[in-house]
Amino acid sequence: MFALSEEHEALREAVRDLATEKIAPRAAEVDRAAEFPWDVYEALVKADFHALHVPEEYGGAGGDALSSVLVIEEVARACATSSLIPAVNKLGSVPLMLGASHELKQKYFPPLARGEAMFSYALSEPEAGSDAGGGMRTRAVRDGDTYVLNGVKRWITNAGVSKFYTVMAVTDPAAGPNGISAFVLEDGDPGFSFGAPEHKLGIKGSPTRELYFDNCEIPASRLVGDEGEGFKIALRTLDHTRITIAAQALGIAQGALDYAVGYVKERRQFGRAVADFQGVQFMLADMAMNLAAARQLTYAAAAKSELAMAGEKVEDLTFFSSAAKCLASDVAMSVTTDAVQLLGGYGYVSDYPVERMMRDAKITQIYEGTNQIQRMVMARQLLNG
Ligand code: CAA
Repeated sequence: MFALSEEHEALREAVRDLATEKIAPRAAEVDRAAEFPWDVYEALVKADFHALHVPEEYGGAGGDALSSVLVIEEVARACATSSLIPAVNKLGSVPLMLGASHELKQKYFPPLARGEAMFSYALSEPEAGSDAGGGMRTRAVRDGDTYVLNGVKRWITNAGVSKFYTVMAVTDPAAGPNGISAFVLEDGDPGFSFGAPEHKLGIKGSPTRELYFDNCEIPASRLVGDEGEGFKIALRTLDHTRITIAAQALGIAQGALDYAVGYVKERRQFGRAVADFQGVQFMLADMAMNLAAARQLTYAAAAKSELAMAGEKVEDLTFFSSAAKCLASDVAMSVTTDAVQLLGGYGYVSDYPVERMMRDAKITQIYEGTNQIQRMVMARQLLNG
């Protein structure tokens, strides 16, 4: 049947209850203070929603891709910043799910599953944004039983609050993208430090900082997969996690739509509820229609992600992942902008949540690959098979 299972519906309800009770009341303050919501983190850990993708074999909940999507969507409906807790934990650790040895997984997954450590992902650099492979300058040089890292990573989500980092670095400069390798770094490794938090338009409670590696020496056992596999592991990771950004976008958009629907039914002008005007009704209908379409695409992409994670060859995962991320984030931007419009002047002030949602929506069109890159990826899939 083309519907969510009872388990998935129950999960959605449980996350929505938690989000309503513990996360939504904190969202405005988290945004205003630009502080990481440790209380929300603790609530997510207690409910086992902070990293539910971690396999049971490593102490995790073993949630499937659709479950992660539902958790992120429902948390984002209340607070986009908070939804980055499960989303980035997944982003940071999927490279290990895809490429790491059993020993490395055994070392890093149990603390993640127990909520003792968060996991971030470090691909981008000052000169390597969209051209993530070609522009990469961070070097990792093998020295006996260690690697020594030098370089800078930029735009690293949850930097400073995460304990673990999957870092892509060049091990063979002559080999292009096939000379990039992935490593696990730990906060506290000698020579590893953080830049100042960026001042952002949205997702303000989630710190975004640079990572600095200054002769940072780590055990060679922290290599994920083989040397030279790092860029492919990084891109395969994004095939799974762009779907979580789609989920975040869906949640932000749903939060804005729900608020706008409630508002236009209450707000009266010209002697009647604003919701009685057909122009307003058409706006609401378009918002809900586009959101429903984006949601179906995202859930379909999650099903493909799950199959691929289980080892099946899913030829169109890359296409679906980029398509879901691109569509859902474009929809989130337009739905939140329309929600601000429907509230008029009230939409433009921070006493109401929709301006925050509009600011938060913007990042979903940018990170994990701009929507221009997503369109490029989709076109390549169409043209090159
Ligand atoms: N899975 C596996 N392998 C892949 C792949 C995929 N999805 N896509 C490409 N590859 C392989 C290619 O086959 C190629 O391998 P061979 O050399 O063996 O043929 C290799 O990887 C290099 O691929 P391309 O030649 O296509 O590389 P490119 O440099 O032309 O383009 C790109 C790659 C798609 C533009 C990529 O750089 C990209 O996605 N850029 C956007 C970067 C991005 O998304 N950054 C996100 C940062 S993370 C973030 O934002 C997180 C956050 O804050 C929350």
